[in-house]
Amino acid sequence: MEKFALITGGSRGIGRATAILFANRGINVAINYLTNDKAAEDTLSEIKGHGVKVLKIKADVSKEDEVKRMFDIISEEFGNLQIIVNNAGLSTHYSPEELSLEEWNRVLGVNLTGAFLVTKYAIPFLKRSGWGRVINVSSLRAFSGSPKGVHYSSAKAGLLGFTRSMALYLAKFNVTVNAVAPGYTRTDMTAGYLKTRENEIKAKIPLGRVAEPEEIAEVIYFLASEASSYITGEIITVNGGIYFT
Ligand SMILES: NC(=O)c1ccc[n+]([C@@H]2O[C@H](COP(=O)([O-])OP(=O)(O)OC[C@H]3O[C@@H](n4cnc5c(N)ncnc54)[C@H](OP(=O)(O)O)[C@@H]3O)[C@@H](O)[C@H]2O)c1
Repeated sequence: MEKFALITGGSRGIGRATAILFANRGINVAINYLTNDKAAEDTLSEIKGHGVKVLKIKADVSKEDEVKRMFDIISEEFGNLQIIVNNAGLSTHYSPEELSLEEWNRVLGVNLTGAFLVTKYAIPFLKRSGWGRVINVSSLRAFSGSPKGVHYSSAKAGLLGFTRSMALYLAKFNVTVNAVAPGYTRTDMTAGYLKTRENEIKAKIPLGRVAEPEEIAEVIYFLASEASSYITGEIITVNGGIYFT
């Protein structure tokens, strides 16, 4: 079966590495992003020439009308969709006292509500295909918590319940739903603090280094492939052995 995938936040970091890997392995890819047209264009040109169909769609995953429009485009351009990677994410740092309700809602909106909206609108495509994969990108922070990231940790922990519930609902349609929980990974999201704290962070990681986005992409690909056919509702941590720090 020819495979079509949507990768939210597919223009940079882990999403970009996943989009390139999927295309290399023959999967048609739609890359979603929020504002950075140049990064999306760069990723698209990296993928073009792999003999697969590629598409970039600018849409805010936290807004229902934009998600609906994204699926209209996918319907017109691809017609099919079997693989969803809910990867779009946003992390900010505030103590609970500093954290405004607006910021709480913004971070939950992208990291958690976004996965709900995208999966909801993907369901008709998944049912029609009779085969599907949903992969949610959670985080080490879902388990460890974070004193200045109560909103981010809550969203990423929420994604674990979302993963299990969606797995139960979609199993009868031959669709698996799993999550990947990365630890420290070298992307724009972590560039700021890796610049000043990389040695301190590396010292806490048993494998002695942070992950490259390609290493997370390989696990996402596994969960998107036939090889993971009997795994559903599962969370795979990819963190070099670091726990609860
Ligand atoms: N890096 C890490 O150490 C790490 C660790 C654990 C989990 N994660 C998770 O892994 C995922 C990818 O992170 P990353 O480090 O690769 O991030 P990144 O380099 O900052 O890239 C974020 C991507 O998400 C897109 N995006 C942000 N808000 C969006 C929205 N509202 N709608 C649609 N797209 C949106 C961005 O689009 P634009 O380019 O247009 O801004 C970009 O493509 C996130 O869910 C993150 O929480 C990362």
